[in-house]
Formats: sequence, C-alpha cells, structure tokens
Amino acid sequence: MKVTVVGAGAVGASCAEYIAIKNFASEVVLLDIKEGYAEGKAMDLMQTASLNGFDTKITGSTNDYSKTAGSDIAVITSGIPRKPGMTREELIGINAGIVKAVSTSLVEHSPNVILIVVSNPMDTMTYLAHKVTGLPKNRIIGMGGALDSARFKYRLAEALGAPISDVDGMVIGGHSDKGMVPLTRLATRNSVPVSEYISEGRLQQVLEDTKVGGATLTKLLGTSAWYAPGAAVSGLVQAIACDQKKIFPCSTLLDGEYGLSGLCIGVPVVLGRNGIEKIVEINLSDAEKAHLEESAAGVKKTNALLDA
Ligand code: LAC
Repeated sequence: MKVTVVGAGAVGASCAEYIAIKNFASEVVLLDIKEGYAEGKAMDLMQTASLNGFDTKITGSTNDYSKTAGSDIAVITSGIPRKPGMTREELIGINAGIVKAVSTSLVEHSPNVILIVVSNPMDTMTYLAHKVTGLPKNRIIGMGGALDSARFKYRLAEALGAPISDVDGMVIGGHSDKGMVPLTRLATRNSVPVSEYISEGRLQQVLEDTKVGGATLTKLLGTSAWYAPGAAVSGLVQAIACDQKKIFPCSTLLDGEYGLSGLCIGVPVVLGRNGIEKIVEINLSDAEKAHLEESAAGVKKTNALLDA
C-alpha cells in the first residue's frame, strides 16, 4: 500500500505521522513545493520509527510527481490555511488553482489512485477535483465530517462529563462554520441518547461549539489546526487500505441521495478498498433535512465561484 501526501505543512506531516504510527502502509511519500521541506519532514519522521515502532517507509520530495507513481491513495493538503477571522470559503481563489494542478499531476502518475481532499473550502475543492480529473465518484473523497465528528464527540464528552470512548455522534453537511449539521438527536452515550443526560440548552451549546471547532483553534493558534485533521485523514486512509468497510461522514458527489445532486457534501459513506463503496441514506428529521438543504445551498454558492 503506497500513500502519497501532498503538502508537508502541519496537516500533511501529521497525516504522514499518524499513518506511519498505525503501521499499515508500506510506503508514504510526502511532497511539497518548498525546496527540501518534504525531505526534511520525512527524515525527521523516519527517525521516530525505532522510537514509535513502525516500519512504514516515509520519503520526501520537492514536487517530483514521478516519486508518487503507483500510489493507491493520495491525500491533498496543499494550499493556504485560514488565518484568524477568515472563513474557509475565502481561500478559494488561491486553493482552486493549487488543487487543480495537484490532482491532475497525481492522476497522471497514478491512474488508479483514490484521492482524499483536505484543502479548503473542502467540499468545493472535492467537487473541483471531480471536474478536473473525471475520476469515478467512489475514488474522490472529501475529508471534513470525520474531523467535525471528532470535535463533536470532544464537546459531547465535555458536556456529559464522560470519557470520549463512551460517546458517539456524527456531523454531516458542508465543512464550514455555517454548513455543519451535527446530528444531536442521534448522538449517544453508550447507546443511550444524550438528550437523556443533558438539557436541550446544553446540547445546543455543544452544537454551536462544534460548528466553530476549526475557527476556535485558528484563533488560538494563529493558523488552522493539524493534529485532529491529520488523525481524521489517517482514519480514512486506514479504512481504505485495510478494507475495513467502516462508516465515516465524507464529502462525496451526490446524485439524488438525500434529495441533492450536482455537488459534493458530507454524508455517511462506507469506506473500503474501492474508496466510497456505498452512500448510506439515514432517515433525517424535517429539521435536519432543512439544515442539510441549507448547507447544500451554501456549498453550491461557493462552487459557483469556481466559474467566476
Ligand atoms: C479545520 C480545517 C482542516 O477544520 O478545515 O481545522
């Protein structure tokens, strides 16, 4: 299993690190446009191998896509991250050009690759990757929901005073402050609905905190977060590489599912060796459906900027 990670910045390097630590891939190639940067990150990470006990071989390259040839999975993290006060949508101008060039080069060298898009605005960048590569929809996956769900579980555990391992929950919709749809109705603590334990008001607070999860960190860090994004990507990569058939909310091209089409947005999918093996349609309440539709309208508005 060969995995390429484009962008050796904080998110890309964290991805490579978590993939290596989980020790399921034979090879990770890190790529960056900054001279020597990916090589340095790869060498530093390789020097953790004996300490962390992994055999994955990590190599780095300055933008030489021939080194990525034959990748099974490629993760696109390149582009600029947001600064405090910015929305993910404001990054579209610069990042669209980058994602276009990167996804084209990746597919040129690895025609069978499965792409995971992380660059923001993620749902629109996933849609763009479809448009420029023409890959079948099972092979283009946008990473947002897995991260947003992890942040949701963190906030739920905090509100419940429970260990995170006791908590389950999922966020669907667009990966944006306004577009996220945390499914509070379906969240559970050890299979009991969380509404049995906490008030509607507290749950509303969890929902609000989840939606601005990335923005809160950007304000604290001065740039976008990396540990949880990296870990979330590694979870998707592992599910594909190990054919786990696990369900994650991911951004995928919809064709009538959830009454939506012609856009990529976060919905639950089964991930296995073929990438997105199934889109899972769950019954949503009228309010949840309305939120998802509103979110889709927001994503479509951002998608329209691609042609502007
Ligand atoms: C975040 C970025 C990865 O939410 O979108 O932290």
